[in-house]
Amino acid sequence: MCGIVGYIGGEQAAPILLDGLSKLEYRGYDSAGLAVFDGKNINIAKTRGRLKNLSDLTNEGTNLNGTLGIGHTRWATHGIPSDTNAHPHFNADESIVVVHNGIIENYVKIKKQLQSKGYEFKSETDTEVVALLLDYYYNGNPLETIEKVLTKLEGSYALGMIFKDYSDEFYAVRKDSPLIVGESQNGKFIASDVPAILKYSRDVYFIENEEIVKLTRDHITFYNMDLEEIKKETTSINWDISAAEKGGYTHFMLKEIHEQPKAVKDTISPRIKDGRLTIEELGMSDEDIKSLKKIYIVACGSAYHVGISAKYVIEGLSRIPVEVDLASEFRYRNPILEEGTLVVIISQSGETADSLAALREAKKQGVKVLGIVNVVGSSIARESDNVMYTWAGPEIAVATTKAYSTQLVALYMLAMYFADVKGKIAKEELQGLIEDLIKLPEQIQSLLDDVEQIQYFASQYVAAKDIFFIGRGIDYATALEGSLKLKEISYIHSEAYPAGELKHGTISLIEEGTLVTALLTQEELYKKTMSNIVEVQTRGAFIMLITNDDNQEANKVGEFVILIPKTNKYFTTSLAVIPLQLLSYYVSVGKGCDVDKPRNLAKSVTVE
Ligand code: F6R
Repeated sequence: MCGIVGYIGGEQAAPILLDGLSKLEYRGYDSAGLAVFDGKNINIAKTRGRLKNLSDLTNEGTNLNGTLGIGHTRWATHGIPSDTNAHPHFNADESIVVVHNGIIENYVKIKKQLQSKGYEFKSETDTEVVALLLDYYYNGNPLETIEKVLTKLEGSYALGMIFKDYSDEFYAVRKDSPLIVGESQNGKFIASDVPAILKYSRDVYFIENEEIVKLTRDHITFYNMDLEEIKKETTSINWDISAAEKGGYTHFMLKEIHEQPKAVKDTISPRIKDGRLTIEELGMSDEDIKSLKKIYIVACGSAYHVGISAKYVIEGLSRIPVEVDLASEFRYRNPILEEGTLVVIISQSGETADSLAALREAKKQGVKVLGIVNVVGSSIARESDNVMYTWAGPEIAVATTKAYSTQLVALYMLAMYFADVKGKIAKEELQGLIEDLIKLPEQIQSLLDDVEQIQYFASQYVAAKDIFFIGRGIDYATALEGSLKLKEISYIHSEAYPAGELKHGTISLIEEGTLVTALLTQEELYKKTMSNIVEVQTRGAFIMLITNDDNQEANKVGEFVILIPKTNKYFTTSLAVIPLQLLSYYVSVGKGCDVDKPRNLAKSVTVE
């Protein structure tokens, strides 16, 4: 889960590479480096820490001369974050240099083999074996050498490579890690993700697994593993570059929180035509839907929490049984996927390694896979049988907000559509749900228009030791997301609990003044959850209550109350999560944490 970039053309490479890396820092940010070829020597600058350190080290790139180069921003997997372990990595005589995103799983074996042949390793990384293997097999022909090396590598990789013998070209290849290629009048580019090159190119090539790319100043040539030339089509990127910039907000997370009304609207609108719900991209006939026996929703992190909310909605509306699984568990537990099963993989990035592996497991067992994906052309989007895109636009902050919200509405629509086809919902009820769905963007906006009280409230909890989130049913699913959001960006310990389960153990953690955020949006569960709230309150908890604006009982238990606009019981997560995102954001800001890039994390988790 690192980011790689590469450039060859008529301009100085280093500033272009630094700019590209700045758009990829979300993928990892514990060290960064550049290798630039001046025609005679390949010069490397690399350093531990944020990109700013590299920019300072190279005087914004001006210290590195040359019009061909590759760059890297790292999220450490093998070897601690350090100057030595930072990429790029050279071979011994500095004639071959490599940047890598992914993991070489058999690197220990290869390392031993190379050491037995006299090779010395400078770093603790898995990547260095690639540089040294390229050296070992180098026969003067980069393409043949790369092809030979790839047959030895197991794992995932997107690689950028420069060979000193060839000052007018460089190479890239991928397997299970993303890689795109772009071109402008001034040069050719590689990158792990579109924002890195969007300034220069809107037409990009998505590189498939085991495709090799050769880039010169004038040409891009694609090869398969038999080294035959292949033709590829470009994909036009139509989102605006400003979408990948902060646009006046202090943090990407805050910007993305505020973009939610638009993102949700953009995801809903194309699927409501003349007041009717249509999901053209589903690729399922009415017969297929009627014969559905079970749905597995498989995802990681927040996307998994979307799955938990969706289980209530799909089962409630369509009566199709739903099982929700963490991708990292699903793939290793030999899931029973019988005929009539649909597997839904939810992923913002479309590159999460565990989710991708789960997708492949499902396909291996012969069941249909639907991807709910944000990044167009990503691996999960390409490998799913069908894709329902969420139209959140690029999400840069590590903690997801707008992608999560768009995933929720995509799943609501799926539930409604299945319910309709299966005849489980009356036309008037469906129409009511469509109307509620259309109202969500403006209801989210109304919650965003009133942030001051949450901001003030959050400022009182920056020193909190523990914060709990409780709820029943769908409210529990929302609580899970609220708790994850808080802990990942504020580093405050937090747990989400089904309200009725607290008394079986966790309640012993409640002390005088502990903040408990209670979610109370499901009318039929009001009374039960209220009892649980009182249970913690009598043990000293301070209650932040999120409930419907028509709940007359709210002030009886809530010491700080947030009222959400009325929607139907299935869609409440979309509204209740907004104050929770804001709470996390302002606690994190109040603590002085790095909101957009929390420690130890990366946006796109392409390792298992
Ligand atoms: C939390 C967060 C993560 C992701 C998870 C899955 O704020 O963003 O938990 O939801 O890593 O990522 P995707 O959706 O890219 O598969």
